Amino acid sequence: MATSPLFDLTSANVNPDQPILLYDGDDHKIYWVGVHSAGEEIECNSYLIVDGGAGYLLEPGGFDRFGPVFKKVCYLISPSAVSHMYFSHQDPDICASFPSWIKWNENIQMIVSSLWTRFMPHYESRDISGERYRLNFIPVGDEGATLPLKSGGRLECISAPYLHSPGNILLFDTTSGFLFSGDIGASMFKDRAFHLLIDNWDSHTDAMRGFHQRYMSCNRAVAGMINTLRGRQITALLPQHGAIFRQAEVARYFAWLSHLPVGADYLYRDIP
Ligand SMILES: [Fe+2]
Ligand SMILES: [Fe+2]
Repeated sequence: MATSPLFDLTSANVNPDQPILLYDGDDHKIYWVGVHSAGEEIECNSYLIVDGGAGYLLEPGGFDRFGPVFKKVCYLISPSAVSHMYFSHQDPDICASFPSWIKWNENIQMIVSSLWTRFMPHYESRDISGERYRLNFIPVGDEGATLPLKSGGRLECISAPYLHSPGNILLFDTTSGFLFSGDIGASMFKDRAFHLLIDNWDSHTDAMRGFHQRYMSCNRAVAGMINTLRGRQITALLPQHGAIFRQAEVARYFAWLSHLPVGADYLYRDIP
C-alpha cells in the first residue's frame, strides 16, 4: 500500500546528506535530492520521481549543485535512467546543471515553458547550434500539458505565469497529490539550519514575506493561480526553496498569500 512518509517526518529526523523518501508507492516513489550547503547562497530543493524505473528529476539546480544532486540520484537509480527533467522556470539556480546531465544522456527530455526553449541553450558551453547536440524539449504553453506515467498516474504541467517568471509552470503529481511549485511558497531563513518542514507558522511566514513581496509580480497573478488550481486535491506543496507545506498547511499558505500585497501591488501601492 502506498504511503507518504513526508507526513511523518520531523525536523529532528531529516538528514540532508541522504535522499529523503517523501512518497512510497509500489512503482512510484518521490525523494528529496536537494542540497543543504549552509552557505551564503540560496538553499535549493531538487526532487526525484521514480516511476516504473524511469527518473523524473525536478528542479536539477545550479552548475555547482550537479555533483551532490548526482550523487543522491545515483544512490537511488542509474543516472542513465533519468528520462526527464522539469524546470519550473529559467533561473540559474534551477537550470544551470542541465548540460552536465545531458552529457550522461543526450536523450533526456526537458520539460520547460515554451517561453524559455530559445534561452536554455545559453547555459551550454558547447556549440549546440547544430544537430549534434540538439536539446530535447517538451515545451509547455499556457494551456499546460499532461505526461502519462507508466504506473498509471499523470504529471500535470500547470501554467502559473508571473509567479515570478512570465513563463512559469507548476507540476502536479496525480498519484501523490504533491504540487511542485517552483518559487511559489519559497522561504528564506537567516540561520543556516536545514528547514525542510514547518515547525512554527509565524516564523515561517516571516521567512516567506520578503521574498514573496518582491518576487511575485502582482495579486492578480496570485488570484489567477489559485483559481486555476481549484478542484485539485493537493496533499503537499513542495517549493524549490525552503520548507514543504503538508496537508492543512497548503490551504493555510494560499490563504496567507491571498492577503499579502505582492509585487507591483506592493511596491507601487501609493499609485491609484
Ligand atoms: Fe526564480
Ligand atoms: Fe528559485
